[in-house]
Amino acid sequence: MTETSASRAPVTRKGSELPVSVDTTKMVQFLVEKGLTEVPPEFLLPKNLRPSSTRMKNIPRTFQIPVIDMAKLNHPDFGENVVREIGRACEEWGFFQVINHGFSAELMQGAMQMCGEFFALPMEEKKLYSMKTSSGIGYGRRMAVKEGVRVDWVDRLGFWSASEEHRKRQPLDVICPAAFNATMSQYGDEILKLAHVILSALSRHAGLDGNYLLDRLGETNTAGVRTGMNYYPPCPQPDLVMGIGQHADGSVLTIVQQDGTPGLEVLKDGLWVPIPAIPEAFVINVGDQIQMISNERYKSVVHRVVAGNGSGRKSISNFFLPNWETVVSPAPRFCTRSNPARYQPVKFSEYITEFMKVPLGEERFVDLFKVPARNEGNQYLISAEGTKGKICPQRFSD
Ligand code: OGA
Ligand code: NI
Repeated sequence: MTETSASRAPVTRKGSELPVSVDTTKMVQFLVEKGLTEVPPEFLLPKNLRPSSTRMKNIPRTFQIPVIDMAKLNHPDFGENVVREIGRACEEWGFFQVINHGFSAELMQGAMQMCGEFFALPMEEKKLYSMKTSSGIGYGRRMAVKEGVRVDWVDRLGFWSASEEHRKRQPLDVICPAAFNATMSQYGDEILKLAHVILSALSRHAGLDGNYLLDRLGETNTAGVRTGMNYYPPCPQPDLVMGIGQHADGSVLTIVQQDGTPGLEVLKDGLWVPIPAIPEAFVINVGDQIQMISNERYKSVVHRVVAGNGSGRKSISNFFLPNWETVVSPAPRFCTRSNPARYQPVKFSEYITEFMKVPLGEERFVDLFKVPARNEGNQYLISAEGTKGKICPQRFSD
């Protein structure tokens, strides 16, 4: 690749979606159901990137992403402990699991069932929902666009699960399974609530008003949840492929429901740490938007999904996203004279449309928005009052 990060200049480019065409005969599930015994070349990882050559055999026992019991979050005496656990997990790991989160277990099971039933449909029916643009709404996955590009061992169905406005604007009306739309909009509304609870805890952890981070995302009712149902079919040679190659999420927060099969791994101090599949837990991670808003206090961490040769794996990834028009930038309360703003302001619509087009790889997309080291912090800051894009001279809170 000859193009440099700087020459992409995504900050000034107007976001627009690209057309996408999905060849259903190349969906992983289709290949596997045809009885393939060897992985096709576009999936093959070079030796140095394979799970077996990147994974440490003896990960220290203490290296486990935190599992946080949220039952006492609103308890007058113990609530602050839970807030601290969430905040620390976001500072140190960027990832944690939550249990006793108040989300209905029945609804979680219902959503996973919808996911199973959708992927069990005949290909001819799934095809009706094929993705049409790079916005990621519909059935499909990233295809190899040119020789030598490696693709992921996963098929996806993407849609807006919240809010109502988003569901109407870019609808995906699934006819079968019959309960799909109703179940998944209820699920999305609940995910949105959980995302608000986590953001509020993070705001409190940073010593701010509970609404602080949410307010940075633009009008509350215009933020939404984009959901991806993922199917990682059993792979005859799982060490030669990646379910999802290493990446960080462009979201505010991502909330993932796993089925009983592990596969998700987080990069921590150079080690790939597997995340156990705990029934009825959600895996939550900080996305790039919170990393930028919190001026890197809370980390958007690189992760990946490895493939397996068992019975396949399903997961539901829920990306909590801000209002499209929101200009995201380090919030004044996270910037000090000794820790000035590390990112330039960027409109979320521009960030995410570019993000969806750029192939996953070694580069961190968020780095394209870093303030150059030589004048770090001297250039940009969005006014404390609003997120509508007025760039003000830098002010410090210390
Ligand atoms: C993602 C992701 C994890 C999983 O969709 O961005 O990291 O377990 N998914 O499927
Ligand atoms: Ni991810």
